[in-house]
Amino acid sequence: MITFGCQMNQHDSEMIGGLLEDAGYILTEHLEAADVILFNTCCVREHAEQRLYGRVSQLKALKAKKPELIVGVGGCVAQKEKAALTKRFSHVDLVFGTNALGGIADLLRRVENGERPVVSTPDVCASPEHRPPITLGRARISAWVSVMRGCDNYCSYCVVPYVRGPQRSRRPDEVVAEVRALAEGGVVEVTLLGQNVNSYGRDLHVDASFARLLEQLDAVVGITRIRFTTSHPKDISTDLMRAIRDLPKVCEHVHLPVQAGSTRILELMNRGYSSEEYLRIVERLRDLIPHISLTTDIIVGFPGETEEDFEQTRLMLEKVRFDGAYIFKYSSRSGTAAGSLDNRVDKSTIAARHRALLEFQKEVSLERLKSLLNTTQSVLAESHDAKRHGFLVGRTRGHRVARFCGGQEDIGREIEIRVCRLDGWTLVGEAAQHSSGQEPQG
Ligand code: 5AD
Ligand code: SF4
Repeated sequence: MITFGCQMNQHDSEMIGGLLEDAGYILTEHLEAADVILFNTCCVREHAEQRLYGRVSQLKALKAKKPELIVGVGGCVAQKEKAALTKRFSHVDLVFGTNALGGIADLLRRVENGERPVVSTPDVCASPEHRPPITLGRARISAWVSVMRGCDNYCSYCVVPYVRGPQRSRRPDEVVAEVRALAEGGVVEVTLLGQNVNSYGRDLHVDASFARLLEQLDAVVGITRIRFTTSHPKDISTDLMRAIRDLPKVCEHVHLPVQAGSTRILELMNRGYSSEEYLRIVERLRDLIPHISLTTDIIVGFPGETEEDFEQTRLMLEKVRFDGAYIFKYSSRSGTAAGSLDNRVDKSTIAARHRALLEFQKEVSLERLKSLLNTTQSVLAESHDAKRHGFLVGRTRGHRVARFCGGQEDIGREIEIRVCRLDGWTLVGEAAQHSSGQEPQG
């Protein structure tokens, strides 16, 4: 399995892997050893799509040497391109769209039985959602849980609603059951996934909201941490803010993509909030939860973006002082509302604006990180540090990577650490309970 794109895609790949393990396949890390190579793909920006095409092309030689090899392309690009993929790449045997993932084992059987190519890109999901077998892989500390699929927002630049379809929330009882089962399997941290978790439940016929779901999940025995992504500013409710503040397991971190700082551009993006409204949301969040960690997504170079609009985005970063920001160059996607706009910003301007914001935000992120020096942080010990014997790595509730002394018995536990210094972007600390007054070396 080769996965491109977001956490949702990575989670989908886990699901595909699980279904195929159930069907008797064995996962291998080695391309040459594989009888089946499946790509799970992303088309949110052109760059990801081009990288995929490069990787698929490279397999042509391998396929020529090994004709029985099965090559499949699935997920978002498959849903968008459909049979055109098999025309472009004659060595692709299987195309499976975002609504066909659950049927992957049957589709592969058809290919194995000689039907080539097989193309399955239905507009709606025929079978009820297949779930990954909970036992998949090693005992894990942390797991993703999909709470909804699709998106109804139609931001003017975004291809997601076209390739992942309308919003479909999973029923709360189903999500709770999955989290319980994960907890029984040893998972202590869950990250709830959805394109816009803040509108969770609106498409259901039961009374459900994301804040209410968090409350139900907070009660699951064995789970110690709950994270979620992504939040849409226009749908963030006071109830959700209070849930983050009051529910002990819900981590104080919100990924709240602002996309741009100019209200004019936000309107063109169809985001549903103004720059001032966004700032007010941040103010309310910080009033309620002073130590909240805030991260965001930014797009530079949306069609028609002027120097003044761009300056507004820079000002947004300056005013909010995010803990982190993903800054993307605008990528025109055909089929989207903005895809047909012809007042494109030229490439070199986009590159310069991108560079400027990256540099600006890097300083801010580092300052925000430094503000954690000499504080006590609760860290979930996730694994041994691969490079430093006797050290563990994990994340703070605010999603910062931290390193500290510890042993196997600490893995999966919440450890209080005192942050002593930074090593790059990693917080280095000392476990507060076996504090010896010495700063760990490493
Ligand atoms: N061009 C650039 N960035 C995009 N994103 C979504 N669509 C595009 C596009 N066409 C970014 C948004 C979103 C993140 C997941 O990807 O910032 O929040
Ligand atoms: Fe795309 Fe907007 Fe939906 Fe996010 S909320 S997936 S940016 S359409």
